Amino acid sequence: MSARIYISRDSGALCVGAEEVATAFRKAFDNRGLDVEIVRTGSRGLYWLEPLVEVARPEGRVGYGPVRVADVDGLLDAGVLDGKKHKFGLGLVEDIPWLKSQTRLTFARCGIVDPRNLEDYKAHKGYKGLEKALAVGPEATVEEVANSGLRGRGGAGFPTGIKWRTVAQTPPQQKYIVCNADEGDSGTFADRMIMEGDPFVLIEGMTIAGIATGATHGYVYIRSEYPHAIEAMEIAIREARKGGMLGKRIAGSKYDFDMEVRAGAGAYVCGEETSLLESLEGKRGEVRAKPPLPAHIGLFGKPTVINNVLSLATVPIIMSDGATFYRDFGMGKSRGTMPIQLAGNIKHGGLYETAFGITLGALVDDIGGGTRSGRPVRAVQVGGPLGAYFPRELFDTPFDYEAFTARDGLIGHGGVVVFDDTVDMAKQARFAMEFCAIESCGKCTPCRIGSVRGTETMDKIIRGERVEANLALITDLCQTLKFGSLCALGGFTPYPVMSAIRHFPEDFDRPRLKAAAE
Ligand SMILES: Cc1cc2nc3c(=O)[nH]c(=O)nc-3n(C[C@H](O)[C@H](O)[C@H](O)COP(=O)(O)O)c2cc1C
Ligand code: SF4
Repeated sequence: MSARIYISRDSGALCVGAEEVATAFRKAFDNRGLDVEIVRTGSRGLYWLEPLVEVARPEGRVGYGPVRVADVDGLLDAGVLDGKKHKFGLGLVEDIPWLKSQTRLTFARCGIVDPRNLEDYKAHKGYKGLEKALAVGPEATVEEVANSGLRGRGGAGFPTGIKWRTVAQTPPQQKYIVCNADEGDSGTFADRMIMEGDPFVLIEGMTIAGIATGATHGYVYIRSEYPHAIEAMEIAIREARKGGMLGKRIAGSKYDFDMEVRAGAGAYVCGEETSLLESLEGKRGEVRAKPPLPAHIGLFGKPTVINNVLSLATVPIIMSDGATFYRDFGMGKSRGTMPIQLAGNIKHGGLYETAFGITLGALVDDIGGGTRSGRPVRAVQVGGPLGAYFPRELFDTPFDYEAFTARDGLIGHGGVVVFDDTVDMAKQARFAMEFCAIESCGKCTPCRIGSVRGTETMDKIIRGERVEANLALITDLCQTLKFGSLCALGGFTPYPVMSAIRHFPEDFDRPRLKAAAE
């Protein structure tokens, strides 16, 4: 075997110099007359170690990182191709505790395979799920997904199998599979990582969804801020088509399924499923009233499955390894694993896939290693910009849909954003209102007008104007937003606002506290 090294092409690695490091290795190999293949993979998700260079050795892949261009010659001089020691040496990548302690089901191949190579995907258990779906047929496939307990990973946690069953039971006609890859939540990047690191798993998941529900065409709606993911998906779709895994009679079966990529124009609300459908149809991204559900009347008025990237990318392993295997992980009604994204002011940020049930404290303190600034953790926002802020007193909350709801929070898409003790929670609450005002689609009054009034009221509180009366006003306004909004953008904005007020009251009374102290 000729020597081989692996370097990520994931956006997170590229922005810390992975491309330059790969070029430097190529040059160094050529200068030294070494026959070494450089395979460009996705990322393992240990972002503080990127650019991570992995050397193929008989005992496994040995990691070195983070590597800069200036380190390349030194690494080769030290003999890393022969598995020699170096100060950047991390040992076997699979044995790095941060990776080893995970349960990688959805992310099983990410960082390992070449995302542009269909054969590599197949060599790593790829298309085993489709094989099973073709063997058992559409009805049994829907039941398998339902029995796995998989719930939508886009935020709402709706059971995927039930959604598929609804579409499958509509009369035969043109139906669609739409993959929601708008990924607008703060601190989230798992969808992007899958699309850049293991795009065939998403193609396989969408293909299975198509067979299960009778849909013959799929769209991946990707935010325009993800050019690398768009490119990776387009290349993978072409390769899958070339390899007979998309198009007519896929994998030699009687089923047709094809798909294409659509780039969004950049609006948070276009991640909301009905707004996304409007946008896909070429219209302004405005929320549709429900009912009708997209499962009945969706894209171009046809029955449509809309699922998040992670939901669809998890289907292949459910089909290949079985519903029971998958549902054995997790707790309560949260079955399987969740790819959690650790972000913000955190020492070890990245992608951590684990069974539901791990506590927030374990994620932030043990796995994340506390803040990057070294200061105490003060607040953690979970579930994107509409998620609640959790104080340290609630760090015993397990990662579970119902446990988070019981504490007036949400898991959302699994984003965990950490703040240290320099954070001003009144400003964060104002930011939530302002975010809602900026991103509102404008269709309903509580959100369109309420978010603007909310921002103004927060400004008054921050200035110390009639704090008590304005806090009562904000609380009242949040009730109106929560119960009167048409969609969750307005409906969930109260979560960050009210959690900040409830758990960090001292930040909302600063002028008065300051005056009392003087
Ligand atoms: C304002 C807003 C933004 C949303 N953004 C996303 C998003 O970026 N990605 C996503 O998958 N779901 C998003 N959702 C949830 C979708 O409406 C929908 O529930 C999801 O795509 C369904 O797929 P799932 O069942 O696989 O989670 C958003 C919802 C709202 C209200
Ligand atoms: S809550 Fe906001 S984003 Fe949602 S429909 Fe109403 S105006 Fe549009």
